[in-house]
Formats: sequence, C-alpha cells, structure tokens
Amino acid sequence: MNLALVVLAAGQGTRMKSALPKVLHEVAGASLVSHAIHSADDLSPDRVVVVVGHGSELVGPAVEKEFPGAEIVVQTDRLGTAHAVGQAQAALKGFGGDIIVLYGDTPFIRPETLTAMRQARADGADVVVLGFDAAVPGKYGRLIAEKGKLLRIVEAKDASADELAVTLCNSGVICADRAVLFDLISKVGNENAAKEYYLTDIVGLANDAGLGCATVTCDEAETLGINSRVELAQAEAVFQGRARQDAMVNGATLMAPETVYFSVDTDLGRDVTVEPNVVFGRNVRVEDKATIRAFSHLEDCVIRAGATIGPYARIRPGSDIGEGARVGNFVETKKASVAKGAKINHLSYVGDATVGADANIGAGTVTCNYDGVLKHKTEIGAGAFIGTNSSLVAPVKIGDGAMTAAGSVITKNVPDDSLAVARAPQTVREGVVSRLRQKLLATKKKRDAQKSS
Ligand code: UD1
Ligand code: CA
Repeated sequence: MNLALVVLAAGQGTRMKSALPKVLHEVAGASLVSHAIHSADDLSPDRVVVVVGHGSELVGPAVEKEFPGAEIVVQTDRLGTAHAVGQAQAALKGFGGDIIVLYGDTPFIRPETLTAMRQARADGADVVVLGFDAAVPGKYGRLIAEKGKLLRIVEAKDASADELAVTLCNSGVICADRAVLFDLISKVGNENAAKEYYLTDIVGLANDAGLGCATVTCDEAETLGINSRVELAQAEAVFQGRARQDAMVNGATLMAPETVYFSVDTDLGRDVTVEPNVVFGRNVRVEDKATIRAFSHLEDCVIRAGATIGPYARIRPGSDIGEGARVGNFVETKKASVAKGAKINHLSYVGDATVGADANIGAGTVTCNYDGVLKHKTEIGAGAFIGTNSSLVAPVKIGDGAMTAAGSVITKNVPDDSLAVARAPQTVREGVVSRLRQKLLATKKKRDAQKSS
C-alpha cells in the first residue's frame, strides 16, 4: 500500500519569540521538521508533502535541501488543521494509498508507533488516530470512545465538563486513505469556539458516514510538541538521554554520559571511549576502539579505529583521522586527512592538508592555508617530521621522511628524505647583556628625573 506523508508546518510559533520559524529550531543538530519527517523513515513513504506558511521562504528551501523529493505547498491563510491538510489535496491528486498527517513541531513519534497505525488501517479501520493518556489533558483534544470505538474528537475549547474529564487525548497524528481523508475534510466546517476548520472533526464525520475509526496509543513523551524555548530545551534533554543510552547499549563507554552531546546521526563503534564533556556535531563517525578524550568538539568527520582525539581537540568538517592516529590537546583540524599512526599531539592547526602515515607534527605547527582570498593545500609525506613551531605556507609539499627544523617558515617544497631549515641563523654576542642593562637603567633614571622636575 502506497503511503504519503502530509507534514503540517505552517504555524507561527509565536511563543518561540524568534525570527526563525519554529519548525527550523533544532534538536540534536536537526530541525524539528526534519525529525518529524524522519520519524516515518521505516515506512518509506512514497510522497512527502510539507505544508508551510509562516516563514515559508525559509522553511520550504530548508526542507527541499534535506529532502530533495519533498513537495512544498503553501498555506497562505491559516484556518485550522483541516484547512492545512486540505492544502496538500492538489499535490496528492491521483495518489492512491494512505496519508499520514504529522506535525512539523512534534519530533519524537517513534517509527513503531506509525507502523502500528498502518497495521490498524490494514486491520480495517478507515481512520486511525494516534492518542495518548495525558498526565495533564489541558488544551488537548479529547478522544471520545464507546466500547472501544472512537466516535469523535472534541477540542478542549468546545468540550463539556464530562468530556474534559477524559484523559485520552489526540496527538494530532492521523492515518486514512487519501480519497477518504480529503472527502471528509471537504465536509468540515468552522462552527466552533475557535472558528477554525478542525481536522479532528473528520472522526465524527467518518462515523456519520458509517466508516470505522480506531485509536492507536503511544507514550505521552512521543507526542511532545515544541512551542517555546523551554520545551525545546526539554526536547533536547529527552533526545540526549536516549542517545546516551543507545550509545552505551551499543558498546561505547561514556564516562560521564550526562555531559556528552550527540547529534541525530552520530555513529559510534564498539569499545569507543568517550570522556566527559564531548560534543558531537552532525555527521561524525567514530570507529571501534577509538578514544575521544575530554572537552573535544567534533563535526562532520571520521575517526578511524583506535585513534585518540583530545583532550581539548577540535575536529572540524572534512577531517579524516586515520587508524591509531593521535590528535592531542589544542589541535584543530579541518579538511585534513591524517593517515594511520600519524601524531599531531599539541597546539596545532592542520587545515586543507594531508598528513602521511606515521608522520609527526611538532607542537605549534600551523598550516598557513589561507591567503585572505584562496585556500591552499599542504601535503605532508609519510614518516615526515615537522619541527616544533613550523609554519607551512601552502601550497606546499613536504616529502616522505622529510624533516623541517623547529621554527621554520616553509614556503618551498621539501623533497623526500630532506631537511629544510628556514629560520634566521642564530648569532651570539658574548658578555654584552650586563653592559646593555646598565645603559637601559641609566636611560630610565634620566627620564624619571625629567618627569619629577
Ligand atoms: C491540535 C488538535 C488537538 C490535539 C493537539 C495536539 C486540531 C483542531 N486540534 O490542537 O486535538 O490535541 O493538536 O498537539 O487539530 N497548523 C498549520 N496550519 C493551520 C493550523 C495548524 O500548519 O492552519 C499546524 C501547526 O503549525 C501545528 C499543527 O498544525 O504544527 C497543530 O496546530 P495547532 O494550532 O497547534 O493545534 P492545537 O490547537 O494544538
Ligand atoms: Ca499545538
């Protein structure tokens, strides 16, 4: 059975107090709307239609960039959830199959839950609603059921005291056949407290038409919607809690799990050790037995088996740190391919560079990759030894087994097995220091005398 997602993402999100549309705020490095769309990955939807409105000029392109197949439709007047879903009707004309409606601000629906909803459809329900037992039902729509049959949904604003006492609430996620859904939506009116076209009305309408409605329930935590920065932070905490748990369950040691921050796509191998206060930005893969020491920050990089990073290292986009390599304290790498067994142990910047196997990069080495306009490459051969405090002015190539003297400013290529010394030769003038100091003291005395006169 084909499946289309309709993701509602037109709301303003006033309570975020932000210039950025609500659904583009991020949890674990991914936007809320991205989380929502990914929650259906296991179901491999054939179509994804995202309804945008507020901030559509930002939300539309952001979604298209991440999900090239997604279709964007704009809801100009936001007249309610039924009206919002209705905006997808033209895009899905002729589509044969089910639609699942998701909210762009609800990032944590589990794939298993959506699978259960599809199963309920397969079992014969025409409309399937995702409900949850709310600790504080508050403003949620209430699911009114009788003998296990879902009869209607009543919004809190329109509910009687009896209905308000119901704790089974509407998450907003709905699944129905495309034709049935749009037919029901066409019958929804706006005679209610909010003067809105409620999607929730389709349940009562379906019952009126002799169709069957079913409820699938999930944990309240899954239906957590984000409306404010406080809720955003709570969502981040929920995500991080799960990610830390997963990392440990899958064989990584986290010394202080509560201090490690993951992204949605962080990938840790087995027997990886992560020390306290490590941050993983997007797209990081750490292979087996690597160690990420305290206070390191990594993004868009690969750390190969048995490598050691940090403490206090910054591994930036395009870094590939080879097997057993070591990148130590206060080292920054960017677009750097560091081969097996190489060492960059202290205080270095290695950018737009390749470092050969077993090379040793001395403390304070800097690849001078930027001339103010263009970026240039530094190539360091296998087994090379770069002396402490070397500046490698790119483009430049250091051969295999070559060496640069400490403090060198290397501007020309160094052939294999060659030593480059590029610093002013040292001169020594014996016995001059005490004479020099006397002279300076005399000068100071004269100046002090002038000042006080
Ligand atoms: C909705 C449900 C309610 C449910 C609750 C769960 C309705 C009528 N009510 O209420 O039963 O308990 O969600 O959170 O459906 N949106 C649009 N365009 C619109 C209106 C809304 O894109 O014209 C989007 C919003 O951005 C949001 C989602 O749809 O992501 C839900 O809308 P919202 O106004 O928050 O609905 P609630 O009043 O919370
Ligand atoms: Ca809401």
